[in-house]
Amino acid sequence: MLLSKRRPTAIIALKTLIHIVSLGFFALLVIAVNNNTLGGDPVQSVIHFTGISSLNTLLVTLLVSPIARWTKQGQLMRVRRLLGLYSFFWALLHLIAFATLDLGLDVSLLASEIVKRPYLTVGAAVWIILFLLAVTSTHSMQRKMGAKWQKLHNWVYLATILAVVHFYWSVKSEVAEPIIYIVIAGGILLTRWKGVKKTAFRFYSKRF
Ligand code: HEM
Repeated sequence: MLLSKRRPTAIIALKTLIHIVSLGFFALLVIAVNNNTLGGDPVQSVIHFTGISSLNTLLVTLLVSPIARWTKQGQLMRVRRLLGLYSFFWALLHLIAFATLDLGLDVSLLASEIVKRPYLTVGAAVWIILFLLAVTSTHSMQRKMGAKWQKLHNWVYLATILAVVHFYWSVKSEVAEPIIYIVIAGGILLTRWKGVKKTAFRFYSKRF
């Protein structure tokens, strides 16, 4: 078996690859900002790059479980936490870029923009979910929270749906790319259908 318990080297190699790819893209962004090669609207480019990177990493995180199941490589699940943390890392940079470069670090303006613009309200909801998942992602938090941990971490499905809604809503006219993302996210969520159904049912039955 390629990734058996006796050979954690493969998992270490995979984690190293995730660090190299993620930090590599971050380095490319820093270099492009430094060299001023981000085109006519560098601020928008940084916001777009960090937003797309967060969404891409979130989708890859969701793919780990079906791939582990299909390939019968349960050890693959051990890279999920790292990928999830990188999704939050990009979401953090995305918010920092918007708050500082676009709004001049005016916190009250940021708050009023989030309340006034529905696509930003949705983005903020995704951000809060990713934040909660990141801070509770450690083994000790998992032990402390017991059954509540899985319930909270199932909110990743809602975060994914809201993230593609935020993307679709943020564009003015070119909807092709967000629609492609909606289809991809829908496909990935279908592979996780049991978890999605359980979370939706729990959410629905608490309200009605
Ligand atoms: C408080 C949280 C957030 C704020 C304030 C925010 C803000 C923004 C803004 C201002 C834009 C650009 C809209 C434009 O083109 O004018 C944007 C686009 C985007 N955001 Fe967010 N966002 C937030 C959270 C997130 C999160 C958590 C994700 C991903 C999981 C995300 C993914 C995206 C994507 C994919 C785009 C489109 C990028 C593109 O056009 O290429 N955002 N967001």
